Amino acid sequence: MNEIRRGTLPTETFYERVGGEATFRKLVKRFYEGVADDPLLRPMYPEEDLGPAEERFALFLMQYWGGPRTYSDRRGHPRLRMRHAPFTVDRAAHDAWLRHMRDAIDTLGLDPEDEAEMWRYMVYAAGSMINTPG
Ligand code: HEM
Repeated sequence: MNEIRRGTLPTETFYERVGGEATFRKLVKRFYEGVADDPLLRPMYPEEDLGPAEERFALFLMQYWGGPRTYSDRRGHPRLRMRHAPFTVDRAAHDAWLRHMRDAIDTLGLDPEDEAEMWRYMVYAAGSMINTPG
């Protein structure tokens, strides 16, 4: 009985539980609106159009949380630390990135436990992406 919480089946993925693709699209759209206006982060993104970066990030997160594997079909193994190596990810970039992510998560209206789980992951993942001291 205990494993059946909030009326969900134990086999349901986090991806499904939080609303599937629409939720991740909304999250990433809001996140990139923040990046587009950020004087530290915006210059780091190599492409003029942030649309393709938004698409890659949305597909990655959907896959990570148990949704379709489209990210890896298109991009191969994520290898995120390696893919971030060309960029200076220092404490300031980390803090700015997480600030926009916090703001984006707050717009989703998730169940508090799901929200906390997503946030914990983002904090952990952002910390692991730092590749430059200072
Ligand atoms: C900590 C601060 C971070 C900074 C400053 C940062 C910055 C960037 C930049 C500049 C790109 C290249 C844009 C593109 O062409 O796609 C990128 C790509 C990407 N980032 Fe980050 N990132 C950070 C953290 C993270 C975290 C925590 C995740 C995962 C939870 C993540 C996931 C991705 C993904 C999936 C891509 C596209 C990889 C690909 O090429 O397929 N990033 N990031």
